[in-house]
Amino acid sequence: MDISPQPGSTSNQVSAPDVHSIVDKFKGQRGDIIAILGEVQNRYSYLPEDALRIVAEQTGRRLIDVYSVATFYHSFSLKPRGKHLCSVCQGTACHVRGAAGVAEEFENHLKVKAGETTPDNEFTLEYVNCLGACALGPIVVVDGQYFSGVTKTRVGDVLRKVHASVDSAAIPENSFPLDVHCARCNHTLMDSAVLIDNHPSIKLTAAFESHHGWVRLSSIYGSYNVQCEHEIPPSAVVNFFCPHCHSELLGAASCVDCSAPMIPMIVRGGGMIQVCSRRGCKSHRLDVGLDI
Ligand code: FES
Repeated sequence: MDISPQPGSTSNQVSAPDVHSIVDKFKGQRGDIIAILGEVQNRYSYLPEDALRIVAEQTGRRLIDVYSVATFYHSFSLKPRGKHLCSVCQGTACHVRGAAGVAEEFENHLKVKAGETTPDNEFTLEYVNCLGACALGPIVVVDGQYFSGVTKTRVGDVLRKVHASVDSAAIPENSFPLDVHCARCNHTLMDSAVLIDNHPSIKLTAAFESHHGWVRLSSIYGSYNVQCEHEIPPSAVVNFFCPHCHSELLGAASCVDCSAPMIPMIVRGGGMIQVCSRRGCKSHRLDVGLDI
């Protein structure tokens, strides 16, 4: 594995005290390495080799084990990234709807190929196999924000909107019910037979450790009430699946607070809600105006 610093690397600017304080924040918690690497990446926009060496030393892990985690998760990068990460889905469902042309258009606009960063360090372009929202393809995700039904002629709009940051509206944390669908098969996830907070619950299948069973979430935005078939330990990262198509609900974004994967679901009427997959983490993101 080539772990030498990449062109443009700022590994010599890694601050050991900064990395130490990140390690201290999460050390000893369940899934601490993922959370530590997530915060290191937030700090440097990638995982510099020097920082990984410090993480290994401070956590008592072997460097190879830290690298194994860093290379396993798609959201981590060993190369410096631009300010905005632009992920263009090339999975089968998106491909049949014209994703190849969309990808080519991004290359033309940004004047870089997949895996490259623009000279001004604004955008890194990457191609991925599935972003977990096949029903709405072609999908492009920029900095965790989903754009659905992207066509070649709309690529310029996506980039302009990212620059202007106008797509993601700040939603006040007051109560309103959401009606959500599977981002893969588009089947409703609402279960009117079981109410939570006096509204139909959101029913998913969950897997963690050796357990597998149903989980029901409150559909009230801002409520974190949940019912589980099996008790989920605090801080456990859970894999969620659609109970209808059985696809894993896994998107492109990681939680900004704990780096666990975010779980995308389509909101009826337009938009997408993403919730953190870590038990106890309340991080979520509601994007409105999904269709550009
Ligand atoms: S194939 Fe593109 S989101 Fe699944």
